[in-house]
Order: sequence, then structure tokens, then C-alpha cells
Amino acid sequence: MSLVFQFDEIAPSPLKPALLELDGISRAAVEAHYKLYEGYVAKRNEILHALSEANAGAANQVFSEFRALKVDLTFAIGGIKNHELYFDHLGGHGGDPGGQVGDLIDRDFGSVDAWRDDLRATGMAARGWAWTAYDWDEGRLFNYLGDAQNTFPVWNATPLVALDVYEHAYFMDYQTDRASYIDAFFANLDWGVVNDWVGRHGIVTR
Ligand SMILES: [Fe+2]
Repeated sequence: MSLVFQFDEIAPSPLKPALLELDGISRAAVEAHYKLYEGYVAKRNEILHALSEANAGAANQVFSEFRALKVDLTFAIGGIKNHELYFDHLGGHGGDPGGQVGDLIDRDFGSVDAWRDDLRATGMAARGWAWTAYDWDEGRLFNYLGDAQNTFPVWNATPLVALDVYEHAYFMDYQTDRASYIDAFFANLDWGVVNDWVGRHGIVTR
């Protein structure tokens, strides 16, 4: 028994040229990283095709094709969403944020340095991702940790900074020195992009 549902195939977002000219994150590392992102998009499309033909009547929590596809769909889509944030907000000149995101960080962390220290520690503690997210229930920013593409930690929060700490993000450039990679990440953030997201999502500084 296969289910009837509709979906559209999606295509990878193009890589901004600025991503190939980052300071401290090499072109080779970014190109390899982008290939992984393209893989998440391809697998998302493939999984949805497979789901449309899978036997939903045999769905089983211990093992079933339907279960495997549903679990791995979250991994593929998480990989897409996380990397689109990551690539979109790199290519800038880092530094301290201005605009609304600067106000939010000052309000919710006390200072940019305190926010940066907390996100750096979150990134050192994570096995996959660290995000600065606006939590709509708390009405504030928080740095959340996720150990894989599909372990987004909380509902109803909007990620505004997405720090990839999977080894593929830095091993080519820094081997095991993740801390130096995180410094390079901060130095390449485009705060204008982040402020655009704050505006688009209607996040307001109260
Ligand atoms: Fe990645």
C-alpha cells in the first residue's frame, strides 16, 4: 500500500562567488563542502521518490522501509537547511554586528564578546552544529547545540547563525584544530545577511 502524496524536486542553491575567497577557509574546503550539500539535495529528492512508492501498510517502528526513509529524510533535509544558512551568511568581513542583530545579541548575552565566547564553546562541545537561534517562546536568542543534521534541538526557534563543526568543515584546513576554524568562521560572517533574516522573520528587539 503506497500513499498518494505530492512533492517537487528541488535543486541546490548556487554557491556565491564570495565563498571561494574566504579568509582562512580555503577554496578547496568550500568546494568539497558544497559537494556534500549537493548530496543532501539529491538524497532528499531520491528519498521522496522512494517514499511515494514505499509500503506504508508495513510501517514498523523496529524496522521498515517506511521508517528508514522517514528518518533519513530528516537527515537530508536538515543537511540542506543547515548548509543553506551556513553558506548564505559567510562571505562577509566578520567583526561586531550592527543593526538589529547587534541589539539582540547585546540584550540577550550582555555583549558581543559574551555571545562569541558562548557560541565558540557550544561549537567546541558539539558533534555537528552550533546555532544562535531566536526562540519564539522565550522571546530571546540562545546558542543551541545539535550533534547531527537531524538533531535540531528545539521547536519554534529560528536559527540566525549556523556554525558547522562537522570535521568536513575544517579538517582540510586545520586538521584537528577546530578552535582556529571557529575563529575563521567568525571572521567571515556577513552580518548584513543575518540582519536581513532578522527583518524577514519579523524578529523585533523589545
Ligand atoms: Fe557541513
